[in-house]
Amino acid sequence: MKVIHVGLIGWGTVGSGVVRILRENGPLIEKRLGSKIVLKRIADIDLETERSVKVNREVLTNRAEEVIGDPEIDIVLELIGGMEPARSYIIEALKGGKHVVTANKALLATHLDELCRVAHRYNVDLNFEAAVGGGIPIIRALKEGFVAERIEAIFGILNGTSNYILSTMSNEGGEFAAVLRQAQAQGYAEKDPSFDIEGIDAAHKLAILIKLAFGAKIPFEDIFIEGISDITPLDIQFAQEFGYTIKLLAIAKADGETIEARVHSTMLPSNHLLSTVGGVFNAIFLRGNAVGETLFYGQGAGMMATASAVTSDLIELSRNVLKGTVGRVPTLSLQQTHIMEMKVKDIEDIVRPYYMRFSALDRPGVLSKISGVLGKNDIGIASVIQKGRQVAGAVPVVIMTHEARERNIHRAFKEIDKMDVILDKTMLIRVEGELS
Ligand code: HSE
Repeated sequence: MKVIHVGLIGWGTVGSGVVRILRENGPLIEKRLGSKIVLKRIADIDLETERSVKVNREVLTNRAEEVIGDPEIDIVLELIGGMEPARSYIIEALKGGKHVVTANKALLATHLDELCRVAHRYNVDLNFEAAVGGGIPIIRALKEGFVAERIEAIFGILNGTSNYILSTMSNEGGEFAAVLRQAQAQGYAEKDPSFDIEGIDAAHKLAILIKLAFGAKIPFEDIFIEGISDITPLDIQFAQEFGYTIKLLAIAKADGETIEARVHSTMLPSNHLLSTVGGVFNAIFLRGNAVGETLFYGQGAGMMATASAVTSDLIELSRNVLKGTVGRVPTLSLQQTHIMEMKVKDIEDIVRPYYMRFSALDRPGVLSKISGVLGKNDIGIASVIQKGRQVAGAVPVVIMTHEARERNIHRAFKEIDKMDVILDKTMLIRVEGELS
């Protein structure tokens, strides 16, 4: 029986997790695969730092080329992350006839087409289950479980750090900056948290999902991205009063012609399943035309959850190697030739209900001035709250609207924010209700 030889490039946290799973679950994996997986080489530029797992010294090298160039290695795991040299290592491995597993979401968000073309040309497979949702098997679900579906919408919580911050602000209170500092102290947020709190990490994952769910090629720059740093305790409190929870959602919807692709703070009804997802957990909601609504929930990051997804890819590719098959399940779900360029809907053209918080002087006639401008711009009011009485300074005036076009909202704000009774920039949060 052929043994599967694997090379690992990047012996960090996730790489160590893969070593641990192969060791601890090795006998079980062998029973499922019918063969043995041998980790033949591990490359990392730092071989000195103490790791949580020990490996034989002779498998280690600080030259990735020794992994890529080893003729016995069937599958290469790229776990160094970042653009270069990760991209070049993957391309070299594919060109050398090796199947590749990667968890590199930032690279895939912008270079997936290129990597697929190389894999296709050299007749090898490229898997990336761990790139979206950590341990949640959403990529395999899109490629296999939902292969019979026309997917209409996919959206979810794809970033654990921002979900932790927003859930803590909702459950325990606190300003954004203070909760972020606490999350950093507890190791839930990076020292430089910008990718997570500005929505970029979630957008990387959304770009990958869009390709698989809709077969759509869209420029990453066309995804609308807004982070969570402007959310205040006041907004959280008003959301709760209206029966909503604020989440950073990554949203994609297809109407046949255009794709909505956006990442931003979103108000969801508090009884929506995604609203109950707390802490660093991820969850992905998907609606297909036949299956209806489905929900996936789990750890979106972390050593063992991410390593589980990487190892599942490794086992899938090992099965292919053992059966002598390649490309049985297309990398992007659709056959390469059917991946189409699609237009991303301009954020100005989306139609949603909206939450608006005006910082206004508490004077007679202010509400009618605001509502006059909204009415003139075809924006219908669903409900209004004004709290507190303040002789000097601003009071929050909060309005929930019916469905309105975002272009009209911006036009109205331009006029309202110039009024002398408005003391600060107006806060706007998009509302998602039932999947629509
Ligand atoms: N930094 C990500 C998060 C995990 O906070 O969810 C890795 O994708």
